[in-house]
Amino acid sequence: MLILGVESSCDESGVALVEARGEGVPRLLAHALHSQIEMHQAYGGVVPELASRDHIRRLVPLAREVLARAGCAASQIDVVAYTRGPGLAGALLVGAGLACALAAALDRPVLGVHHLEGHLLSPFLGADPPEFPFVALLVSGGHTQLMRVDGVGRYETLGETIDDAAGEAFDKCAKLLGLGYPGGPQLARLAEFGDPDAFDLPRPLLHNGTLDFSFAGLKTAVLTQVKRLGPNVCEQDRANLAAATQAAIVEVLVKKSLTALRQTGLRRLVVAGGVGANKLLREQLNRACERRGVRVHYPELALCTDNGAMIALAAAMRLQAGQAQASRDYAFDVWPR
Ligand code: KG4
Ligand code: ZN
Repeated sequence: MLILGVESSCDESGVALVEARGEGVPRLLAHALHSQIEMHQAYGGVVPELASRDHIRRLVPLAREVLARAGCAASQIDVVAYTRGPGLAGALLVGAGLACALAAALDRPVLGVHHLEGHLLSPFLGADPPEFPFVALLVSGGHTQLMRVDGVGRYETLGETIDDAAGEAFDKCAKLLGLGYPGGPQLARLAEFGDPDAFDLPRPLLHNGTLDFSFAGLKTAVLTQVKRLGPNVCEQDRANLAAATQAAIVEVLVKKSLTALRQTGLRRLVVAGGVGANKLLREQLNRACERRGVRVHYPELALCTDNGAMIALAAAMRLQAGQAQASRDYAFDVWPR
């Protein structure tokens, strides 16, 4: 079974082709991605209408590129999958529209996929796929959640953010530090030159016993420091504040993940979503989990942020597990929230 996946929820246009055989882990045949980051940089963040218009320009050429790379004809596609949500409504509609038009032209069924399920399952495309059950730490620009995952479609939310997501905290603090969009990777780069102990920043909800997160207070604390340092802040202070911010976010994510592992008694952790690309987070999780005999699984770095491969994969695994049915109803709908 060949599944074409289309991702367009935010600022990455992604298309991929995945092959599913029997019960085996689906195999990625090809994927192609176009990032809009450069286009949005001038505005300091994603401009929804520009995002939609760019997806329109990019998706068809990306689909052609994927088929060419995989050496497949469009007529070989069995199912077309697309991101149904969450994301920007206009951007989602472009991907869903393309997927349904293509499926209708080929007389094939379509399947809408939850974007976060794509992230959650993305480590299955890696060299070291996890086994169920596991705890998942989902850390993206819009979401921060700890989940218990017992199988495809069998997810239990253990805790989540009550305000900002971890990626949002990275992005907002980066902006306060005068860094561009997207802030996460840039803040991480600046942090390499800083001393994380130079500033004492809060670790909200760290010891409250729940698996919920809160990052809004951290952002306020960073703002207070930025104001105190003033407009003539030196490079070293900026780097120190970046390092302290990153250390605070990472410490909360690591400690809460360990609590989730302890509470569930599970010995496997999956980390997915854009913030999962953060080097310090990976280092600290690896060290803490190794000490506890816990295996940690990450998606390949290139598949940490948004991509079409994870959408094709999630559709394939849902279909294999009998947890979803693709349909020929092309009157598609999207779920922005
Ligand atoms: O999963 P993703 O690509 O998109 C959403 O579904 O939101 O995640 C994007 C988020 C952004 O907030 C970005 O700043 C953050 O992931 N991010 C990082 C790093 N790479 C991406 N945050 C910290 N360190 C990184 N290396
Ligand atoms: Zn995402």
